Amino acid sequence: MESINIVKGDKEKVYESLIPQILALTEGERDSIANMANISAALKEAFGFWWVGFYIVRADASQHGSSLVLGPFQGPVACTRITFGRGVCGTAWKLAESVIVPDVEQFPGHIACSSLSKSEIVVPVFRNGEVVAVLDIDSDKLEDFDERDKMWLERLLSSNIVL
Ligand code: SME
Repeated sequence: MESINIVKGDKEKVYESLIPQILALTEGERDSIANMANISAALKEAFGFWWVGFYIVRADASQHGSSLVLGPFQGPVACTRITFGRGVCGTAWKLAESVIVPDVEQFPGHIACSSLSKSEIVVPVFRNGEVVAVLDIDSDKLEDFDERDKMWLERLLSSNIVL
């Protein structure tokens, strides 16, 4: 297994170098859990984010349909289930679009898994037009995410990686 080569520099440079490496790392792997695990690890290693991971849409009879359930992640322990429309993750699922939160304390209904989390981005994963998972990244710095993260992460998750 080759390791990830981390380029130092501004965010754009890191993504430019990292995204092709993630595509190479996941190429040919048909298991979504394995790919989610390596994507989480690569993003955490490259950027040093506080928490990086996936929540997966799963059938949940007690929630009259489905919930987001914790999937592969890197970082401290996190809440395991998030209902439709709840928190930043549930909102991104409901809206079926990425959500950037510059200051989590200003986001109504934010689910605080850790008081050290200050800003957040959540990017949906689509299959046949449906949200099947979300990628959630938390930072311990305020305003750590912008349109560049959104653009690169959406590009990554809409590539042909099996997720
Ligand atoms: N803050 C998220 C919950 C997940 S943890 O941050 C890992 C939310 O509001 O959906």
